[in-house]
Amino acid sequence: MAEAGEPDITAAREEEIAENGTANEFALALRSAQLNPFLRVLVTGGAGFLGSHLCRRLLAAGHEVICLDNFFTSQKLNIVDLMDHPNFEFVRHDVTVPFFAEVDRIFNLACPASPVHYQYNPIKTAKISFCGALNMLGLAKRVRARILQASTSEVYGDAQQTPQTEQYWGNVNPIGVRACYDEGKRVAETLFLDYHRQHSVQIRVARIFNTYGPSMHPYDGRVVSNFIMQALANDDITIYGSGTQTRSFCFVDDLVDGLLRLMDSDMITPVNLGNPNEFTILELAQLIIKLAGSKSRIINKPLPQDDPKQRKPDITVAMRALDWQPRTQLEEGLRATIEYFRHLDMRKFKKPTEHNAHANSEHYEECMRRVGSPTGDRGRCARAPTGSS
Ligand SMILES: NC(=O)c1ccc[n+]([C@@H]2O[C@H](COP(=O)([O-])OP(=O)(O)OC[C@H]3O[C@@H](n4cnc5c(N)ncnc54)[C@H](O)[C@@H]3O)[C@@H](O)[C@H]2O)c1
Repeated sequence: MAEAGEPDITAAREEEIAENGTANEFALALRSAQLNPFLRVLVTGGAGFLGSHLCRRLLAAGHEVICLDNFFTSQKLNIVDLMDHPNFEFVRHDVTVPFFAEVDRIFNLACPASPVHYQYNPIKTAKISFCGALNMLGLAKRVRARILQASTSEVYGDAQQTPQTEQYWGNVNPIGVRACYDEGKRVAETLFLDYHRQHSVQIRVARIFNTYGPSMHPYDGRVVSNFIMQALANDDITIYGSGTQTRSFCFVDDLVDGLLRLMDSDMITPVNLGNPNEFTILELAQLIIKLAGSKSRIINKPLPQDDPKQRKPDITVAMRALDWQPRTQLEEGLRATIEYFRHLDMRKFKKPTEHNAHANSEHYEECMRRVGSPTGDRGRCARAPTGSS
């Protein structure tokens, strides 16, 4: 008999021998997994917005979770309630440094995700995307774990095709201020596919579109958190550009469900996960003002450089291969998110550091004219107007 929580290999072996006269190792592994679905799962970036929700779902399903994070864009608060869970282990570690653990599955989420955070230290962002993926793929290869990469719709850049299908190669500016993230995520996808082709590592790649919900960092500068914060304070709501640019917003519970289904699927090529319902930024601001009962006014500022005009996932692949589609309507999800923000103790969150996440093209182009070349004097281009969404 296996101990509680251990794979029941003996029972599987007996069953296999009874059926086939001898134990077939593959059938054995399969049978033991069926008898005992308990898995050891590593979640990098597990203390972040998506990661903390994912850890909770994995624990609820009876798995053992190692949450690896360096709290670069998150804090203990997100996972403090999990610390005493018998199946939860937290490891403070930077994913750019190799890490070893015996695990069955890896969700690689560690990476600053909002422009404010990923442009704070763009070189580090590129390094996390590349080295983090490399280290985790190395681990997956070594322990034969299945590994999922949290990629992004940003790999499509300022898309010339809408909705974006997985076949679209994207339109990314490789030297723009968003490139550290966009190109970082693109090269991470390349690494994933090459580890599969070269070493047969079982990979999964989720191209995640804009996701929102409770546990978002109040100062992460993402459009939903920004608008809610401004609406609850009755401050002006800042819209960059005219507000006609569109986004699709996926509620976090739906997204995490998609990640789990993708991990359990046999999809090797990237899969879009997001909500295909499209809203303009102006519509989003108006809806948040209404739901928050706010007196905020809407004001406009220049559009940041390389800000995509349109973002809408084609989720046909996810619907067919994962039997997945988002179920939460924007209004319902926003209500839950607004309630979360309404009761947040802001003293427990760090304010953002100086960044140029909202550097706009005009500033950049003017700077280029002044400096002559982007590499001529980076320091003089680095300081750009700051904003809040
Ligand atoms: N939320 C979205 O809308 C969205 C959209 C597309 C892709 N993604 C991807 O999903 C993943 C999670 O995003 P999120 O929204 O939860 O962001 P988040 O910033 O809340 O979480 C990222 C987590 O990674 C950790 N981290 C950052 N650098 C690290 C390092 N070097 N070592 C260890 N941990 C590190 C952070 O501390 C944080 O806890 C990211 O990879 C992001 O690119 C998210």
